[in-house]
Amino acid sequence: MSDPNDLGAFLDGAWQHLTRGVADARSPSRYPTLATVSPEGWPEARTVALRQAVRSRAMLEVHTDVETPKVASLRKAPRAQFHIWIPKSDLQIRISTHVEVLTGADIEDQWAKVPPASRVSYGTMPIPGTAIASVYDYEKPAERSRFAVLHCTMTEIDLVHLGQRHRRAVYRAETGWQGTWVAP
Ligand SMILES: Cc1cc2nc3c(=O)[nH]c(=O)nc-3n(C[C@H](O)[C@H](O)[C@H](O)COP(=O)(O)O)c2cc1C
Repeated sequence: MSDPNDLGAFLDGAWQHLTRGVADARSPSRYPTLATVSPEGWPEARTVALRQAVRSRAMLEVHTDVETPKVASLRKAPRAQFHIWIPKSDLQIRISTHVEVLTGADIEDQWAKVPPASRVSYGTMPIPGTAIASVYDYEKPAERSRFAVLHCTMTEIDLVHLGQRHRRAVYRAETGWQGTWVAP
């Protein structure tokens, strides 16, 4: 293990997990929990797939159906937190973000890269969350106009490492991701 006092190495390790999550569907970082706040003020969390992680822009990207309730939530409160637990590394990663919902021509490149078999994730009828008369009473056409990208710009990263002695650090965009140790 690298020097446990090294704040930079701790953050580097977290970024390696994020990058691996995008590339490797078996990595625990592939499927973070994404938490938002509903228009009524309720916390709401769900699993999503991590599609992009770009350190130079402190950016994470998630794809979704524009008709899902999370998009309505994000339009009212454009903030979200990612949560990832990596058992083999005893590491919890929490990332607070500002979220922009991108649709239309701006996301043509991303849509072009979605495999045809996965495009049916965008277009479920009736819209996700609607009550249906029986269990399979829905259809999944691929609907380009329903595809949306959640462009998430990081404001804070909070890392907790469980070891013989626990370590926790918080890094903020406003301080150039310098980081500080905090009590775990
Ligand atoms: C393993 C897994 C991966 C998922 N990936 C996504 C995803 O990338 N985008 C998405 O919108 N929903 C994804 N879902 C479905 C969401 O968890 C959720 O059920 C759906 O988006 C509706 O969420 P909402 O009602 O909070 O908007 C995934 C679910 C699972 C179990």
